[in-house]
Amino acid sequence: MNEELISRLTEDLKASRLTVVLTGAGVSVESGIPPFRGKGGLWERFDPMEVAHIDAFMRNPARVWDLLLREMHHLLNRVRPGTSHQGLARLEEAGYLSTVITQNVDGLHQAAGNTDVIEFHGSFARQLCLDCGKQIPTTLVSLETLPPRCSCGGILRPDCVFFGEMIPPQALERSFQLAEACNLMLVVGTSAVVQPVASLPGVAKSTGAKVVEINQEPTPLSARVADYSLFGEAGKILGQVAAGLPPRGRRH
Ligand code: APR
Repeated sequence: MNEELISRLTEDLKASRLTVVLTGAGVSVESGIPPFRGKGGLWERFDPMEVAHIDAFMRNPARVWDLLLREMHHLLNRVRPGTSHQGLARLEEAGYLSTVITQNVDGLHQAAGNTDVIEFHGSFARQLCLDCGKQIPTTLVSLETLPPRCSCGGILRPDCVFFGEMIPPQALERSFQLAEACNLMLVVGTSAVVQPVASLPGVAKSTGAKVVEINQEPTPLSARVADYSLFGEAGKILGQVAAGLPPRGRRH
């Protein structure tokens, strides 16, 4: 079943003048980062409103650092790109992919070699001081005492979008512009339930693009928005797709 869809996707990639991909936590699972929902998901262990909402953070930053952010800090200092990231980097290298719009905050698309990555939910690679606004690389932040503090004494927070916060305006605007302009949108490794990012595939579809989903299980996109879905391990599928595409030079 996937064999036929993989060759169909290869043809769609060859025919597309402007292709964008939207990724979620499913592309980083192989790198050892747990997803949020479904089997082994973080939100099965924690209530996101208790540990990932801006109000919860401002009420008790030490608790959010202790329950959620310490694990992310530990993980993200060690993880490497997996086959999903490598497959998408190969698609850009071969000239079939222009931009990655990602919900992930792990920086692994850039580490794999994609050069145009929109971080829709920000990035854990940077911490911001709540008092003086200074940006500090997360790798330089010690978690000996929680919450970690800036040299000015202010509390540090990740440069990620908590629930209850606005999406960075430039990321929002550029993502919707690309959704409207693209001929093909790949949607990989996302449950497609969080807004406004989950509206992007519908916008692409409504403005004439093909939408192709690659995910382990069906999502709200599968029946109503995707032209077709490939169900399985994203890394394996993307590796097979990339292997079937001759380099065409960086068009985008
Ligand atoms: N290959 C393909 N799909 C996979 C794989 C894999 N190896 N592993 C998991 N998946 C799929 C799961 O079936 C699931 O549908 O990836 C999806 C991950 O969904 P979520 O965990 O909900 O992650 P995501 O969609 O990125 O979450 C969106 O929610 O909590 C917020 O801010 C957080 O950015 C996150 C947003």
